[in-house]
Amino acid sequence: MKTTKLLMLVMTIAVTLFILIPNLSWAADDGATIYKSKCAACHGADATGKPAAKIPSLVSDDAKKKSDSDLATAITETAKHPGSVKGLSADDAKAVVTYIRGLQK
Ligand code: HEC
Repeated sequence: MKTTKLLMLVMTIAVTLFILIPNLSWAADDGATIYKSKCAACHGADATGKPAAKIPSLVSDDAKKKSDSDLATAITETAKHPGSVKGLSADDAKAVVTYIRGLQK
């Protein structure tokens, strides 16, 4: 009887870790995932933009000078952005800004 209970406990811990670990690593590359799926088509995978289509670079000196909150606000309030971009939560916008900062280096 006791062995069964112990086995149940071990199984529960194993299952919990199995669910938790992938989620933790997901959170870390969320910004990259969002950028690739929602921004790269316009701003480019390297975020240099498309001057011919009047899509600004996000890695220009100009963009580097902007604060994190300026960039996050630009994401959710730029009129030319599609609804899927404007609808990003504050947390998601922040994650993308962090990813863009990485590209700016
Ligand atoms: C449909 C194409 C399109 C998509 C998708 C798009 N953008 Fe933009 N973005 C633009 C255009 C066009 C502008 C310039 C708008 C203007 O000048 O009013 C812009 C402007 C910006 C700016 C302001 C830049 C500056 O220097 O003022 C930021 C920051 C930005 N986008 C980030 C993002 C991020 C991050 C995503 C993805 C979450 C994204 N954009 C998705 C087209 C797009």
